[in-house]
Amino acid sequence: MTFSDSFLDEVRARCDIVDVISRYTSLTKRGSGYVGLCPFHNEKTPSFSVSRDKQFYHCFGCGVGGDVITFIMKIENLDFPDAVAQLAERAGLALPTIDEGSTLAKRRRDRVYAVNKEAARFFHANLHTEGGREALEYLNGRGLTAATQTRFGLGYAPAAWDSLTKEMVKKGFTKNELIDAGLAVTGKNGSIYDRFRNRVMFPIIDVKGQVLGFGGRVMDDSTPKYLNTSDTIVFNKRKNLFALNFAKKTAAPAIILTEGYMDVIALHQAGFDSAVASLGTALTDEQVKLISRYKKSVIIAYDQDGAGIKATQRALELIKPSDLSVKVLRMHDAKDPDEYIKKFGRDRFLRLIDQAESESEYRLSGVRADFDTGSDEGKVSYLKAAIEELAKISSKVEREIYIARIAKDTGVSVDAIAHEVARAQRKDDRKKKRDEENRNLTPVRTHQPKSRAVRFDNPKSAIAEEGVIGTLTLRNDWISAAAEQLAPDEFSSPMLSDIYRIIINQHDAGRDVTPASVLGVLEGDASNHFSGILAREAEPNADALRDYIKIIKTEAAKAGEDALSAAARLYKDKKSYGG
Ligand code: GTP
Ligand code: MN
Repeated sequence: MTFSDSFLDEVRARCDIVDVISRYTSLTKRGSGYVGLCPFHNEKTPSFSVSRDKQFYHCFGCGVGGDVITFIMKIENLDFPDAVAQLAERAGLALPTIDEGSTLAKRRRDRVYAVNKEAARFFHANLHTEGGREALEYLNGRGLTAATQTRFGLGYAPAAWDSLTKEMVKKGFTKNELIDAGLAVTGKNGSIYDRFRNRVMFPIIDVKGQVLGFGGRVMDDSTPKYLNTSDTIVFNKRKNLFALNFAKKTAAPAIILTEGYMDVIALHQAGFDSAVASLGTALTDEQVKLISRYKKSVIIAYDQDGAGIKATQRALELIKPSDLSVKVLRMHDAKDPDEYIKKFGRDRFLRLIDQAESESEYRLSGVRADFDTGSDEGKVSYLKAAIEELAKISSKVEREIYIARIAKDTGVSVDAIAHEVARAQRKDDRKKKRDEENRNLTPVRTHQPKSRAVRFDNPKSAIAEEGVIGTLTLRNDWISAAAEQLAPDEFSSPMLSDIYRIIINQHDAGRDVTPASVLGVLEGDASNHFSGILAREAEPNADALRDYIKIIKTEAAKAGEDALSAAARLYKDKKSYGG
């Protein structure tokens, strides 16, 4: 559903951000705003600030920020329309009757679901045709029974360029609908062709039973091994888990999280019906939320290679702030669950589940494997590393259990280890406190955005660019003059340039430019960053604005000269080659 600006303004006006956020974390008044512990990351001193005047939030610790709608999207793991609906409902506002635009958008989505479903049928039916024989043999060869193949709707995309396209057009789907679904691609001459060719197909189905997209695997060693549907109007790979449609119904206490399609299918076939896979991406926080909607525990069963170990560590970090309890499963003599089940069978895998380690256990046994404890030296190094890990365990009971275990293992007394752990903890606490204090005092010290996806090429100019943005958001009467002197493409940061352009456009369109009006059109990194600018912005000052503009223009001119002289150099080099 798409909402009108006036409806969104109404929702924002009726849902005061301080009231809404107070339901999730307790806020105390400080200065002109409120502060509290950030609900999105673990912290001991508050770095989460909320402004009632400007209706935005920002965390100096983890860098997130936005307006009341993005807050609800993030904390409840909802998409934009659902977040708006939830807020509207709480505020007692009736949702607007569906307008024409949203009917069209819904119809477009429904057509994508429909074509996906038909495509899945077509792929599956192909398995039992002459052309699909190799695919059927491939799946049989990987040990998948006919029942499993049917249950997962596995199929085959023929080798031709247009077999799916032709079939779907025959069923009344348009070329645009096939492109919307990511099933077809436009070629050079404007005609379209099938995206998936000569691959075994795995439909990706959501918890409502709708086909969102596909993964397709080659049957030999060619690359890419897997081709997945790119994000479409119905599919966002960050927000879905393969096989959750089945796993959500499991009686097992924990979701088993694997890396791959084949792992999931092999596990289900062996009776482990709580297995899911993140879809060829590293685990995301949206997926963690999704899991926690259905189960309270998760067992990570990633591949046992270097990449899998890294992914496990990342997943542990992501899961930590959630309320999921987590264990890690270790396999020996097999690289992944699929291979393990095939080699050792279901009962042995069941035993692995029973033996799965808690996060601390997993980290400690990782440390253990790094050292040769046969020698005294090795033992000391191992103990030092283990003590560091032990110091990170917040539960006293858990800590004591592992201390006792390591004492027994190394022959060092419990008291001695406990003493060292306590010392390491005090040191950690002091460091953490220092870090948080430093961060709060000088949040822009290094002046790079929190998100690693954004880097500033020219921090000096970026500081000034932020100054311009912050000032103009609060002083609309200065926008026209600034816009006359400074063009968006003089900005060094594309993200900040976009925000500046939004401010100018809103002003030109006769809208009031406010924190809310700008936040309302920003997403992700840009929203987080803009809220940070607002949180730091002091009283607008005309002299400062003039200076900012001067700095940006000077830096832009320098960058222009650099580009010119680089071009000149290149030209000279070319000439000398030619000469
Ligand atoms: P098999 O080799 O068939 O056993 O598959 P697997 O599921 O064990 O695959 P692997 O461990 O190599 O990769 C894990 C998951 O990452 C796969 O299931 C895919 O979702 C994804 N993946 C693997 N290779 C590719 C690739 O080349 N491109 C993309 N986009 N994703 C891939
Ligand atoms: Mn595999």
